[in-house]
Order: sequence, then C-alpha cells, then structure tokens
Amino acid sequence: MVTMSHSPMHYPPLLTTTITTLLLFTTTLTPTTANQPPPTPTPWPHQFHSILMMNYSGTLEIIDLWYDWTNGRNFNIIQHQLGNVLYDLEWNNGTSFFYTLDSDRQCRSAQLEVGILRPNWLDGANYVGQRTVDGFLCYVWEKADFITYYEDVASRRPVHWVFYTGREAHVMTFEVGAALEDEKWQVPWYCFEETTPVATMADVNGSITHQGLVDFATRRIASI
Ligand SMILES: *[C@@H]1O[C@H](CO)[C@@H](O)[C@H](O)[C@H]1NC(C)=O
Ligand SMILES: *[C@@H]1O[C@H](CO)[C@@H](O)[C@H](O)[C@H]1NC(C)=O
Ligand SMILES: *[C@@H]1O[C@H](CO)[C@@H](O)[C@H](O)[C@H]1NC(C)=O
Repeated sequence: MVTMSHSPMHYPPLLTTTITTLLLFTTTLTPTTANQPPPTPTPWPHQFHSILMMNYSGTLEIIDLWYDWTNGRNFNIIQHQLGNVLYDLEWNNGTSFFYTLDSDRQCRSAQLEVGILRPNWLDGANYVGQRTVDGFLCYVWEKADFITYYEDVASRRPVHWVFYTGREAHVMTFEVGAALEDEKWQVPWYCFEETTPVATMADVNGSITHQGLVDFATRRIASI
C-alpha cells in the first residue's frame, strides 16, 4: 500500500520502455558520437566484381565492373538499355581501350595521364553524415566536388555513388575477391589496326559524354 505511490509500476509498460530506451540512447550514444572521429571510407578490395545499375537523367545502363588492382587493370562492360554493349578496358599505365565486339568492330584507344583508381582513392574524402539511400542506412562522403559516395553502415560495402554530372551508380552486387579470367582481358585485333584512332583526353571525355561511358570524373579523382 505504502509503496504504491513511489513505484514505477504506475507507468504504463510502453511508457516505461520508451523512457528506458531514451535513457539508453542518452547514455550510450552521446559520449561516443562526441568523442570519436568521423568514419572513414573502407578502401576498395584489390579485386572485386560488381554489377552496377547506372542512371543518368533517366538513361539506364548495367555495368559489369571488374576491378583488378592486383593486375593493374579495370574493366567496365556496359550494357545500354536495349542497346549495344561497350567494353571499356583500362590499364594502370594509362592505356585505355573502348570497343564493341559486334560486327561494327569499333575500337578507340586512349592514353590517359593517370591509371586506374587506387584502392584508397577515397582517402581524404569529407564525411557528411548518415543518409538512407536505396533502402540502406549509409555513411556518406564527398570527394573533391566530384563524387558523393554511400557505404552501408552495417556491412561497410558500397551502396551508391553519384558523380558531379548527376550520373548515379546503384551497387547491385559486390563480390570481394572475384576476378575475371585473363583471356577475357584480350583486346580484339582491330584495336591494333593502323586506322584505329588514338584519342586525346578531351576526345575521350567527349565520347564518354556521348556514348554514356563511365563518368570521366573517376579518372580525375585518381590523379588527386
Ligand atoms: C533515374 O533518374 C531519374 C532522375 O534523373 C528519375 O526520375 C528516374 O526515376 C530514375 N530511374 C530509375 C530506374 O531509377
Ligand atoms: C599498357 O599495358 C597494356 C597491357 O599490358 C599494353 O597493351 C599497352 O601497350 C601498355 N601501354 C603503354 C603506353 O605502355
Ligand atoms: C569533360 O567534359 C565536360 C563537359 O563537356 C567538361 O565540363 C569537363 O571539364 C571535361 N573534363 C575534362 C577533363 O576535359
């Protein structure tokens, strides 16, 4: 009888739970967020395969991305929606080939000033907080005004990135350690014909804009 007026049992169970939760939040979250440095992006694995859904103002592509730092090469196999497939093979020495494997036999090569992205290319990115994107709670960073990069808080895998041009990548799969077999990196013979145009950096940029290749910004970031 006496204890009734002082007992927490007076509160409805839900309210008690809410208060407990709030207390937990206050005690566990406040000190850690205040004292810890901002999260840093997880470096890219030295080899991975990813399927990306790209959207550039409503123009859609699927990219098979084979990142292979171990062998100094990077491959974007770009399926345009109901269109052709474009192969963008980049070597770490700056040589890149863009080609089709259909009867058109198109090939263009380029000598760029920088190689492929380094695994730590996101170092120094500016942390801007947490956001939910594609249904995943993510850490978000911005790098050099070129890219906004979203990484899943729970798994620390990339979920999404957006280039400064507005081109968006949605990461559909992320297979760490997956590597494409050597013979698939073979450039077709017509890339070595004397008539094959060798593009300048500006040309490549232009063709990227027109053909919808991977955003040129990534290569500029690589040189930062
Ligand atoms: C692609 O992006 C545009 C905005 O640029 C948006 O309206 C559209 O819904 C997006 N499409 C898909 C399939 O995400
Ligand atoms: C870069 O490496 C590739 C693959 O080994 C080779 O085909 C190309 O000729 C090299 N480019 C230069 C400029 O050495
Ligand atoms: C690539 O082209 C875009 C649009 O035409 C331009 O704004 C950008 O400065 C170019 N980048 C390079 C490296 O030439």
